[in-house]
Amino acid sequence: MVAGNWKMNGLGADLAELDALKALLGQFSGNPGAQPCDVLICPPATLIARAAQRAQGAFAIGGQDCHANASGAFTGDISAPMLKDAGASYVILGHSERRHLHQESSAEIARKVHAAWRGGLRVILCIGETMSERQSGTQERVCRDQLYESLPEGVNAENTLIAYEPVWAIGSGVTPSAADIVAMHEHIRSLLAKRPGEAGREIPILYGGSVNPSNASQILNLAAVNGALVGGASLKAKDFYAVIAAVNRT
Ligand code: PGA
Repeated sequence: MVAGNWKMNGLGADLAELDALKALLGQFSGNPGAQPCDVLICPPATLIARAAQRAQGAFAIGGQDCHANASGAFTGDISAPMLKDAGASYVILGHSERRHLHQESSAEIARKVHAAWRGGLRVILCIGETMSERQSGTQERVCRDQLYESLPEGVNAENTLIAYEPVWAIGSGVTPSAADIVAMHEHIRSLLAKRPGEAGREIPILYGGSVNPSNASQILNLAAVNGALVGGASLKAKDFYAVIAAVNRT
């Protein structure tokens, strides 16, 4: 899976990028097995319905957050059933920009994950350490706590993907070494093998943080990496497609 997170970027005119992406993916139409990977775009909520219309199933559409309740007096929030109704099939939850800028706790994120599942959405759950946590050597404990505290009972490969996104790599142009990415992905894999156990075996683990056309092939073809969550490089179809094309399906 290669997923694009547009964050708070994109006006109606930018939907042209989705037409361009669809055209680039069009070469695989009629032979979906040949497409390098599953593709997802998470535009801002204002564009979800129009993006879903434009995608026409060529790629999936997702939200960037949802509320823990299905409806109610929560001014400015969006619920999972609303995202689904607008055409989304996925939602990103626990992104570091939500954890840090909106002070979302893992307990709150777990409630949102549950709400997303109830609303029929697949979740991309983000976890990741800050630079100071890495410098103090606590990154594995931080990611373990975020993972276990953000995931309710019932998680499996059908309803959830994990995205490992070191906070210091997001939007910075800096990525961890391949060895550090592999070490953390293997750590997360071993955590999932303990909890939920068997059901966790196939849960995809994506890497996120400054993935771009130049480093995609190196990162995406690591055996421990099952895909990418891409921010800045997902805004332009040409760049995003270059990341997708770097996936070697075998
Ligand atoms: P970036 O963002 O690719 O711009 O670093 C990734 C993300 O925040 O998901």
